[in-house]
Amino acid sequence: MNRRRLLIANWKMNGSRAQLEAWVDRLRRCEAVRHWGDTIDVALALPFPLLTIGNTALKGLPLQLAAQNVHEEAAGAYTGEVCASMLVDEGVMLVIVGHSERRHQFGESDERIGRKVAAVLAAGMTPILCIGETEQQRDSGRTQPILEAQLRKGLALIPERRWPAVPLAYEPVWAIGTGKVATPELAAEEHAFLRGIVAATAGSDIANQQRIVYGGSVDPRNAAGLAAKTEIDGFLVGGASLDADRFCSIAETLVV
Ligand code: PGA
Repeated sequence: MNRRRLLIANWKMNGSRAQLEAWVDRLRRCEAVRHWGDTIDVALALPFPLLTIGNTALKGLPLQLAAQNVHEEAAGAYTGEVCASMLVDEGVMLVIVGHSERRHQFGESDERIGRKVAAVLAAGMTPILCIGETEQQRDSGRTQPILEAQLRKGLALIPERRWPAVPLAYEPVWAIGTGKVATPELAAEEHAFLRGIVAATAGSDIANQQRIVYGGSVDPRNAAGLAAKTEIDGFLVGGASLDADRFCSIAETLVV
């Protein structure tokens, strides 16, 4: 099964208008970018205030606009929050949901993340469901039960036949922003574990369509080794995505 590979840049709480303009400018001058659309899906997840200019700046480039978070309700008294329809209005196509920084710094529960996934899909956008174990959970042998719970609760409100509409991002928390990337073998093993759960629940046809990207300290030096694994359908890239040249080098490892 040939799954189209997916690459997402996650700027987190970084960047400015000037930085975004310079980044896009650099990309426009990069020859390889023109061929991305033939084989890979690429997205840029910006902080909320940059989405509007991001939408304009990305015109004509094979990159989709993405957001890093969303509120699960459609509207209401939620000061400081942003709902799915507001993101649609800004031209957002994908939304990162359940990033470990949301889970651990902002206390988002598995159940709440499941509601966010449903809200994003209902609005016609693509949720990227992030899951991953902490170092402590791995060291105490609890990785797979944790991943399974996050997967099942994250997809709890979605009919099984629609699961492939929700790409998964396996992001071990100990690898995020630490420079301590998972080995290709370890990442592929957990991806296969997750695909196995999808297969056992929804059938192998669905599981074969399910995209699972890896995230956690991906950079131009380690990307090719990870991309060589057929289980790894792309990357969610934080730190290295802030530099357009490094991001392009990572993209090249996914182009077939
Ligand atoms: P990193 O972040 O690439 O800086 O480790 C990945 C992520 O948090 O999505």
